[in-house]
Amino acid sequence: MASNNKYITTPIYYVNDVPHIGHAYTTIAADVLNRFYKQKGDNSFFLTGTDEHGAKIAEAAEEKGETPKKFVDSLVPQFKKAWEALDIEYDGFIRTTDKKHEEIVTEFIKKLQDAGYVEKRKYEGLYCVGCEKFISEDELEDGKCPHHGKEPVKHSEENHFFLLSKLQDKLKQAIESDEFKVAPEARKNEVLGKINQGLEDVSISRQAVEWGAKFPGDDTQTVYVWVDALINYYSATKIFEGPKWPADLHLIGKDILWFHAIIWPAMLIAIHEKLPKEVFAHGFFTIGGKKMSKSLGNAIDPIALSEKYGADAVRYAILREFPFGEDGDISEEKIAERYKTDLGNELGNLVQRTLTMVNKYELEVGPTETLSIDTPDVDGVTIREAYDKALTNLDFSGALEVVFRITRDLNAEIERKKPWELEKTDKNELAVVMGFIYQSLLGVNELILPFMPETAEKMKKQLKTLKPEPLFPRIEE
Ligand code: MSP
Repeated sequence: MASNNKYITTPIYYVNDVPHIGHAYTTIAADVLNRFYKQKGDNSFFLTGTDEHGAKIAEAAEEKGETPKKFVDSLVPQFKKAWEALDIEYDGFIRTTDKKHEEIVTEFIKKLQDAGYVEKRKYEGLYCVGCEKFISEDELEDGKCPHHGKEPVKHSEENHFFLLSKLQDKLKQAIESDEFKVAPEARKNEVLGKINQGLEDVSISRQAVEWGAKFPGDDTQTVYVWVDALINYYSATKIFEGPKWPADLHLIGKDILWFHAIIWPAMLIAIHEKLPKEVFAHGFFTIGGKKMSKSLGNAIDPIALSEKYGADAVRYAILREFPFGEDGDISEEKIAERYKTDLGNELGNLVQRTLTMVNKYELEVGPTETLSIDTPDVDGVTIREAYDKALTNLDFSGALEVVFRITRDLNAEIERKKPWELEKTDKNELAVVMGFIYQSLLGVNELILPFMPETAEKMKKQLKTLKPEPLFPRIEE
């Protein structure tokens, strides 16, 4: 049965990093989907937040000479500010240091224990604090973690283990049957491949880390930060009014697939909870052809970009540039180019010239009963249906292509029909042509709303008042 409730999440970001364009990518995608569902009248809830426990955060706080709590409190506003600058309208912002969340984490672990899935064992391994993860010898490059370029630390301690190996078959079945959908298909195969190699039990507590949620029945340990973080999706349903478990969609980057497609569902199976309906892992992008990194200093700042080009242009450009499930490249130049061509020349100019002509030729235009985006084409498919289908499949660039095909066609229509000549030769035809273009723009206006809410608002006003103003003014370098 189709449900009108939607619950969409992003990863909760490590609070010690400044919000960069990578975090913005997932968050913008979630925001677009949320706005899309809301526009359709669905009851959609979009959750984001910050991941604030663990060794990485505690170490960063210590370097600053601050208590971890004070440190995280000072950083959370940076994320909220970035989301505001990008016109992100989340419905809930969760922090793992929220007391209620901490309690729910402890209860969750207690349930895992009661179900017989936790066991205390001695453990020795190499730990990368950057990844907040144990790392095996053969993953190392020159003795260092390939992601963080740092030597891992040797850990030898007693930890509580989650008996993941026991859940292998059930997990496999849930993924194979799409009861728990892992997408895109390539990611599903990757996960099934890992399961087929055999899953080992994983440590879910830390002895040396004080900065974390209480581990039930053992004061010497805290809950492993990743387990703590994953539970946010579930605890949010008890903290906020609105979201109902299970989540419909966890949007993540492919870097954290292991945790979301293996550890998380296995924990839920163990306590007999429902599984999220879908995890979708998008690709990673490089910046101007290079891996984004702090040391290269090439991380582009989403706040600065949206100040310069406007939130809408950033939202549009990064979702348009390459398909959501694939890797791709982004750069300020690419955003600037999209601003100038697609947005300025195609869309902005189309609205401007249409309204100018409507005024000049004193044409009567107004809303019609059926929009052209709702008129079936020769195959019986409407533009809105094609757009909806793309977005429901998380094909953001595909949905945008549908919209920009219309603007291209309409601009071409103007060139072909030459209203300035019709004005002299055929006034009836002029009214028909311009009327069609005008009401097609009403449709375009609806379709761009989830992606470009501010532009949609401005455009709507212009279509009503018939007073054109540049939607994407030229930016002086
Ligand atoms: N705190 C964990 C997530 C816990 S969720 C229960 C974490 N945080 S993170 O701050 O490192 O954010 C990782 C996420 O940021 C990725 O999964 C992805 O959504 C996004 N990205 C970070 N860098 C990115 C790119 N270069 N490209 C695309 N997305 C990127 O992991």
